[in-house]
Amino acid sequence: MASLQTLLSILFFTAIAFHQGLVDAKFSKSMYISWGAHHSAILGNGDDLQLVLDQSSGSGVQSKRAFLFGSIEMLIKLVPGNSAGTVTAYYVSSTGNMHDEIDFEFLGNISGEPFIVHTNIYTQGIGSREQQFYLWFDPTADYHNYTIHWNPTEVVWYIDSLPIRVYRNYENEGIAYPNKQGMRVYSSIWNADNWATRGGLVKTDWNSAPFIARFRRFRPRACKWVGPASTSLCASNSPANWWTSPTYSQLSSAQMGQLQWVRNNYLIYDYCQDAKRFNEQIPPECFKKQF
Ligand SMILES: *[C@@H]1O[C@H](CO)[C@@H](O)[C@H](O)[C@H]1NC(C)=O
Ligand SMILES: *[C@@H]1O[C@H](CO)[C@@H](O)[C@H](O)[C@H]1NC(C)=O
Repeated sequence: MASLQTLLSILFFTAIAFHQGLVDAKFSKSMYISWGAHHSAILGNGDDLQLVLDQSSGSGVQSKRAFLFGSIEMLIKLVPGNSAGTVTAYYVSSTGNMHDEIDFEFLGNISGEPFIVHTNIYTQGIGSREQQFYLWFDPTADYHNYTIHWNPTEVVWYIDSLPIRVYRNYENEGIAYPNKQGMRVYSSIWNADNWATRGGLVKTDWNSAPFIARFRRFRPRACKWVGPASTSLCASNSPANWWTSPTYSQLSSAQMGQLQWVRNNYLIYDYCQDAKRFNEQIPPECFKKQF
């Protein structure tokens, strides 16, 4: 009897914890301005957002909901002209000192010099897993699609549907994976001229302010998180369980080729190749197949 009861309560918990949803997407419905409100604005029909940095403040938004797994899309047009010293961020994160986090950060540069795309992932409060890339286009000329794809099997960072990085779940080999904490979506812009551009050599030129990053068409195709529960799938009877299908839990060979192309041509830094930093103790996931 006891075990039946336990089973039933697990089923019940799973059902409420993973109530899935194609969450209503517009910024005006699903996000709020959490910082620098006098600067930021949600525009048009609620599908456009601009975040502003000037000498008085940066600014940021966050999603009202937290999610557990999903494909979180954002179109972003980065600060044009002289953006040196500025950082624009787009990431998902849980809270607390054991938090999980998956990041895109865009490090500005002087006019005509390349932005750096900085990626990282934290599991249970530990990050230090940076990979950095240059881009194969001018990210200030137009909107581009930056997607964080996060399912029980892997995390994939996509730019315009090209996978640039994968972090696979090797939890069964003792490597932490973000699958137990709901994460909110955040975007922000701030001054980081102590490190962002050429390692802090180039300072923000406030004569070029205000610095404006533009965001469009936020789409969190994700499972709503309503409380702690163990790893599970998002409502297995729902149409949104597409991320568990084979095509979503592993890159196709064409996508592996794309990822290799990005790494061969645009990778600047990979923590897995930085043995010195880790005192020759390279983190264990670096020895696992990631894509
Ligand atoms: C953005 O990229 C993701 C991942 O490839 C893709 O699923 C989605 O359809 C793209 N969205 C747009 C608006 O292009
Ligand atoms: C800025 O441009 C310089 C010179 O091309 C380059 O070395 C650097 O990586 C670029 N990006 C950043 C964020 O510093």
